[in-house]
Amino acid sequence: MNSKRRPLLAANWKQNLLWQDIEEYCETLRAEMPEYFGEDEAPLPDLLICPPLCYLGLLGALLEDSHVLSGSQLVSTEDGGAFTGEVSAAMVADLGCDYVIIGHSERRQLFSDNEERISRRIQQALEHDLLPILCVGEDLETRRGGSAGEYVQAQLAAQLEPLRTAAQQELVIAYEPIWAIGTGENAAAADAQQMAALIRGWITSNISAAAGEAALLLYGGSVKPGNISEYFTQPDIDGALIGGASLNPRDMAAMLRSCAGVL
Ligand code: PGA
Repeated sequence: MNSKRRPLLAANWKQNLLWQDIEEYCETLRAEMPEYFGEDEAPLPDLLICPPLCYLGLLGALLEDSHVLSGSQLVSTEDGGAFTGEVSAAMVADLGCDYVIIGHSERRQLFSDNEERISRRIQQALEHDLLPILCVGEDLETRRGGSAGEYVQAQLAAQLEPLRTAAQQELVIAYEPIWAIGTGENAAAADAQQMAALIRGWITSNISAAAGEAALLLYGGSVKPGNISEYFTQPDIDGALIGGASLNPRDMAAMLRSCAGVL
């Protein structure tokens, strides 16, 4: 972590939790982390919650008086019109969202999100003032074959043009090795740092030194209360994207405290 960048903990709820669960979650969070609610200045790290699309409005209402940010797990590749089932970036922004997760490996693998669709989603997000969190990361075979770095750089290169535009705002990249997602097998902090340094270096060389310095780099993959501080203490890692462990508000509070403790 670097004191010039605002650290971020992002909760990716994926396709989990129902209306009542979300009400209870927010109540527990309010009791556990009162500093995120109320008039005082927003505490660090920033907290972002990305619920399923259909609950963005509910979450916004429940957290209206808080410093908690909200984000979407998806935006359409299309601006608007006859696209049954799609939700546009304008709609997501209209619900008060600040961020959108794009290029998550589950979408790449299960829902045919290829580089072209990912680019279009990034462009849509930027046009509607949403900050994209671009997810990159290699599979186990690539890691074992020793080419994880090249693989991630190629993923970044495929998005170079939209990333250039994003860098004018703020670039957020989540390094999520696929083999670490939801497996309980988190990447070694030193390996995650090495990849974060590589990503920052890539941004510096291909976009600009200022963008490299300012980019917010998250690690994701089996982050939990017991291991989060290992990542936060790395110089190029500015936060985490958390799936499973973010579903429990007490674990989320423990992770926020752990990060605040090393700031
Ligand atoms: P996990 O998921 O924390 O459950 O491994 C992370 C993610 O997919 O963003």
